[in-house]
Amino acid sequence: MEGMITIAYIVASILFILALGGLSNQETARRGNLFGMIGMTIAIIATILDHRVSAGGTFIIIIMMVIGGGIGAYLAKRVEMTEMPELVAILHSFVGLGAVLVGYATYLDPSAHLEGAEATIHDIEVYIGVLIGMITFTGSIIAYGKLKGSITGNAMIIPGRHAINATMGIICIWLGIFFVGADTSDGVTLLIIMTVFAGIFGVHMVMAIGGADMPVVVSMLNSYSGWAAAATGFMLSNDLLIVVGALVGSSGAILSYIMCKAMNRSFISVIAGGFGTTVGAAPAGDGEKAVYSPETSAEEVAEMLVDAKEVVIVPGYGMAVAQAQHTINEITKKLRGRDVNVRFAIHPVAGRLPGHMNVLLAEAKVPYDIVLEMDEINDDLPGVDVVLVIGANDIVNPSAQTDPHSPIAGMPVLEVWKSGKVIVMKRGRGVGYAGVDNPLFSRDNTRMLYGDAKASVDIILSNV
Ligand code: TAP
Repeated sequence: MEGMITIAYIVASILFILALGGLSNQETARRGNLFGMIGMTIAIIATILDHRVSAGGTFIIIIMMVIGGGIGAYLAKRVEMTEMPELVAILHSFVGLGAVLVGYATYLDPSAHLEGAEATIHDIEVYIGVLIGMITFTGSIIAYGKLKGSITGNAMIIPGRHAINATMGIICIWLGIFFVGADTSDGVTLLIIMTVFAGIFGVHMVMAIGGADMPVVVSMLNSYSGWAAAATGFMLSNDLLIVVGALVGSSGAILSYIMCKAMNRSFISVIAGGFGTTVGAAPAGDGEKAVYSPETSAEEVAEMLVDAKEVVIVPGYGMAVAQAQHTINEITKKLRGRDVNVRFAIHPVAGRLPGHMNVLLAEAKVPYDIVLEMDEINDDLPGVDVVLVIGANDIVNPSAQTDPHSPIAGMPVLEVWKSGKVIVMKRGRGVGYAGVDNPLFSRDNTRMLYGDAKASVDIILSNV
């Protein structure tokens, strides 16, 4: 049986690697998901068959899986695409909490009789697992609250916060030195004190991060949850959990790095916090309300699109809110039928979660080959006749390049203003996620199309 379980774990690990590979591309994402599901099914069955799991244990696991699976399926069915980041954040918190609970359980396990180096290593595993798990747990709960809007998106900047963080870090290391090798009753006290510090550290770390940096934080917490799972794997001597944790941990770290690059920010400066402090506050600029470019009508926009040779559509968070993607696909089909070259420009942090726009466009069946990343299309924008900005704001904000004091200064943006005409679809004068004014809305070649994006594209569709 041992051999069979090892083989099952190897197969599951390979499937997880294939799943990650598949998820890197829209065309193979479904297949990637399927690999992941098969791998997880194999992993769960193999784990339950382990001789260390008693018949009673199996029974409890099955009951808990039915309850947990039922709640998960219900929530997954109900959740809106716009609420996905919150869901992801809260799921990370469960992984963190799981690592904390497993840490305590294995530490207090009366049946474990480890001696010498083995005991030391086990203590270190427990300590690190609980530490990372607790930071992930409280950090993810704060991230959930911020993304949901129940906690302010402003960065909470306490004076001397770096010193506070450093002190808490030093205390955790210091407690850890005493913890390793301590007898169980002292060890538990030290573990509890460290858990409290780690919890405060998690809260403080994410509270100090402003709204615009939240995507990076969510992916960073994803990485932490992976390392927490890997630590749990060490504690439970479960090789598969170590492999899976390391895969999640490293892929989350790579994603955080890619996103930081997309925002032209260093990872350290994101974690140090403070960016996006103006979210919800007064817009940046000279304080006066800018004069917006003239308004246009959906009928006029339809005419411009039909007359154009090159059209680029820039979807943003507002497209997700309005659920306009299906109608946009219909418009695209009609325009392509009239020999208009239509392409989509996707900013790496458009919307509210990585790949948000890609998922919506894929759902609406927009062909993948006309959906281009920012780097692939930015140089072509000067030759484009009409750019249709649908519910996007920060990702097309020229002040990222021109105003060094802007909270989004240095973030690479789609240079839509270089094209012939820019149509901006939004409901009113609402700011974007970073809460800053956008000079694009005052440019000579910009025309504003006010109203809910879905209502506007419906009229455009009936006129093209
Ligand atoms: P935003 O800058 O947030 O702008 C969205 C715009 O859509 C708003 O100005 C809003 O203006 C408009 N809008 C909202 N609902 C609409 C509707 N029903 N119809 C028409 N327009 C509507 O979006 P973006 O340009 O996609 O930029 C994304 C921002 O979110 C970045 O700052 C990014 O850092 C941040 N962020 C990204 C992620 C990831 S990973 N993608 C995660 C969290 C945060 P009105 O109110 O006037 O309509």
